[in-house]
Amino acid sequence: MGGRGSRASPAPQPIRMREGPHSCSGFLPPFPHFATQAIHYAQEPEQWNSRAVVPPITLSTSFKQEDPEVEQVSPYVYTRYGNPSRHILEEVVGTLDGAGGLAYSSGVGAILNICHLLKSGDKIVCTQDVYAGGYSSLWLQSSLLKYVDCTKPKCLEAAITPETKLVWLESPSNPTMKVLDIRACAEAVHGIRKDLLVAVDNSFMSPYFQRPLSLGADISMSSGTKYINGHSDVLMGLVSVNSKELYEKLKFLQKYLGAVPSPFDCYMCNRGLKTLHIRMKLHFQNGLAVAKFLKGHPRVQQVLYPGLPSHPQYEVTRKQCTGVSGMLSFYIKGNEQTVFAFLKNLKVFTVGFSLGGFESLASHPATMSHASLSAEDKERLGISDTLIRLSVGLEDEQDLLQDLDQALKAAVSGEFPSKNNPHPAFPSG
Ligand SMILES: Cc1ncc(COP(=O)(O)O)c(C=O)c1O
Repeated sequence: MGGRGSRASPAPQPIRMREGPHSCSGFLPPFPHFATQAIHYAQEPEQWNSRAVVPPITLSTSFKQEDPEVEQVSPYVYTRYGNPSRHILEEVVGTLDGAGGLAYSSGVGAILNICHLLKSGDKIVCTQDVYAGGYSSLWLQSSLLKYVDCTKPKCLEAAITPETKLVWLESPSNPTMKVLDIRACAEAVHGIRKDLLVAVDNSFMSPYFQRPLSLGADISMSSGTKYINGHSDVLMGLVSVNSKELYEKLKFLQKYLGAVPSPFDCYMCNRGLKTLHIRMKLHFQNGLAVAKFLKGHPRVQQVLYPGLPSHPQYEVTRKQCTGVSGMLSFYIKGNEQTVFAFLKNLKVFTVGFSLGGFESLASHPATMSHASLSAEDKERLGISDTLIRLSVGLEDEQDLLQDLDQALKAAVSGEFPSKNNPHPAFPSG
C-alpha cells in the first residue's frame, strides 16, 4: 500500500473551480411536460388486463389473427411488422420529439433505413464532422456523397444540386463538438427545394436538450444506445418525423429491411427514458464543471464544449437548445504518449467506446472511434493525436475533477501505472 493516490493516503484537497460558479442558465426554457410525457404517455395501465403500472414486455413473435380471410385486422401480426413493446417506445419517443417515432436495432440501423429513402442517382450532402460509423453506412447507399462545412449555411446552400435528396447534419459533432445552426441550415435547404430531406443526428443531445424537428428538420435520428437509454446496456436506433408520408415510407422500410429492436431492448429503453430529464440535467452540470476545470488547467491546450462562452457557436447553442450534454473534447499539452499516459492513469473515468451512459468514459478518437479516417481527414477535422473525448457521467463532481487532475499531472510527468503498482480503482478519501 501507500502508492500515490492509494486509499491509505490523506484525503485529497477539494478541487476548486477556476471560473466561478456554474451557469446552466441562458438556454431555451425546458420543453413543457417533458418528464410527465416520458413517464406516462402511451402507458396508461388501463390498456392491459393486469393494470400493471410498468408496461409488460411482449416477447411473442406471432399474434393470433381474428379472421384468416381478412388481411391484417388484428393490431399485431408478426413482431418484425410491429410489437406492443416497440409500439410503446415509439409512441413515447415520437411524443418527446413532437412527432411520430420509429425504433431500430441500432443507431446505424436507423441511418441505413433513412438512406434507403434514396433512389439510384440521388445524392447526399453531409456535414463534415460526423460519427465515423455513419460515414460507412451513408457510403453504402451512395458513392455520391459530398461533405460540406455546415457551420456555414451558405456553403451548404452552394453544395446542393438537382440530384441532392438528403442533407445529413449532426450537432454537436463528434468528436470536435461543432454546433450547427439547425434552423438556418433547414431554411437554406428548404429554400432551394421543399422536398429535400434534412436529417439531424441528435444522439449527443437527446430530445431533452434539442428538438431538430421544431427547428425545421424533417428527420430527427438518435442512437438511443447513448443518452436516451442511458445505462450502457442496450443498442437502439430512434427516428422521429412529422410528415405522415415520410413516416409511412420509413415504416415500410422498417418492416422489410428488418433492422428492428428486440421487445426486451424496447422495454429497457423505455425504462431509461423515465429518468432522461433528471440524468440530462446532471450530465450538463457535471459536463460544465469538467469543461471549466479543464479550461483553467495548465496541462490542457483547448477545451471544446458548447456550454462554455468561449465555444465559437455558444450563442447558436443557447438559441436552439435547452442545455448541453456531458460530451466534450479537449487537446492535452504534449503528444500521443501524454494521451496514453493520461488515459492509463484514469481511475473514475473508464477508457471506452460509446457515450451518454451514467458512467464517465474517456476515449482517444484518433486511435479509437475515428481510427479508420485517413490522416488528411483527421487533420482537416481537427482529430489530432492529442485530442481526448470525454462522456461525463453522473458520478460526484469532486471525484471526476480529482480524477482528471491526478491523471493530467501523471500524464505530463510521463507516469504510467505499472502492474506492480497499479492505481486503485477509486479515489481515496
Ligand atoms: C453520434 C452517433 N450517431 C450514431 C451512432 C451509431 O449508433 P449505434 O452504435 O447505436 O448504432 C453513434 C455511435 O457511437 C454515434 O456516436
